[in-house]
Amino acid sequence: MSDKTKRAVFVTRFGAIAASVGSAVGLGNIWRFPFEAGEHGGGAFMLCYIGFILVVGLPVILSEFILGRASRSNAMGAYARFGRSRSWRGVGLLGIIASLMILSFYSVVAGWTLEYTVQSALGAVADANRDAHHARFMAFSTHPWRPVLWAALFLLTNHLVVSRGVTRGIERAANIMMPLLFGLLVAFCIHSLMLPGAAQGLTFLFKPDFGSINSRVLVGALGQAFFSLSLGLGCMLTYASYFSSSTRLTRTAVTIAGLDTLVAILSGVLIFPAVFTYGMNPEAGPALVFEVLPAVFGRMPGGAIWSFLFFLLLLLASLSSTISMSEISIAYFTDGRRMTRRTATRLSTAIALVCGSLCALSFGPLRDVTICGQTVFGLFDYCSNNILLPVGGMLCSIFVGWHLDRTVVTAQLSGNQRTVHILTFCLRYVCPTAIAVVMLDALGIL
Ligand code: PHE
Repeated sequence: MSDKTKRAVFVTRFGAIAASVGSAVGLGNIWRFPFEAGEHGGGAFMLCYIGFILVVGLPVILSEFILGRASRSNAMGAYARFGRSRSWRGVGLLGIIASLMILSFYSVVAGWTLEYTVQSALGAVADANRDAHHARFMAFSTHPWRPVLWAALFLLTNHLVVSRGVTRGIERAANIMMPLLFGLLVAFCIHSLMLPGAAQGLTFLFKPDFGSINSRVLVGALGQAFFSLSLGLGCMLTYASYFSSSTRLTRTAVTIAGLDTLVAILSGVLIFPAVFTYGMNPEAGPALVFEVLPAVFGRMPGGAIWSFLFFLLLLLASLSSTISMSEISIAYFTDGRRMTRRTATRLSTAIALVCGSLCALSFGPLRDVTICGQTVFGLFDYCSNNILLPVGGMLCSIFVGWHLDRTVVTAQLSGNQRTVHILTFCLRYVCPTAIAVVMLDALGIL
């Protein structure tokens, strides 16, 4: 059997979509999107976000899909296969490095989530007082070993899934986790909409305030679209290399972008009615999930159960995202470096464990260890989100837009010339320009 025929595929269309939506839906949707939207113009922010998903997000997902399925290879192998110069491989390598960096700091937040899920199940997160939750969160996140332990437990769970392989591990887990995640989300939204503060919460989230749209908000909306769709590091590329040849790429990309946006909006519908009903401050920013929401649950009838279900939801979303982050390096180690899947998975988990522990400790004992004024956690977060992801996305769109043979693009899009033309235009001009603007702004150059 040749290597090509041995390569794993997602067995069903549902599995392929569930795994890709699982990658896209994560902390970015449930934790970050609601407060970004609420603070930055509500409905107006959403319109910008949806606009960016359409003109930048969709073309970049499609470019990753085309490259992944046409090469049937990992992030670096795909560029090696079609790049006329060796330096294109560097783009894939950047993605692999970025994926390990994101996996490391993301596992810390996922570890906090795991601790909160377990504590909620034990009924320990049911205090109604926000200050108590603040004190609790500070004590936990700065503890000399507890955050490391929870991040490690999370990474081991992630390891158990990915080590079982693409079909039996990733696809099967996605088939179970994603329906559960959507079910939980819908149940939560129905509950939230029946609360007395529902109208006030929805107004905060959706009321379009065009006056508050400025360049920072636009930049925030584009960055959010990018992170939320898992773009720029070869994640969608790697998953597309497991798509069957009958998977329709354009339709799959639209489905993923649509479901990802839906989850982001539903998360806002879940959170804000409850926050207003129980008289909490909706503008708490990043503290919303670990300090404000637990206090909201503490005031709610049946709060311990809702708290458990909420953190479980967040945990499922985080796990389906970290699975996809790990797969980027695992695919590279297996087909690029010829390791067995077992060794590749162990290596990827080991790197994440070491780097993740440093990130976890950077709120406590390693708080004063800074590089360029940032803690390890801050540095990983900043470098990957503000530099590696946008650069990766920009180079991928340039590669597919300018460099890749049109016949490959046309064949992957089932010969649909209109889509090829629109896509090529976006990849050549719109995406690189938009991403360059965001990046320069994020780096403080604009
Ligand atoms: N899209 C995920 C989220 O919204 C994060 C992610 C980024 C996942 C990059 C995989 C790769 O949380």
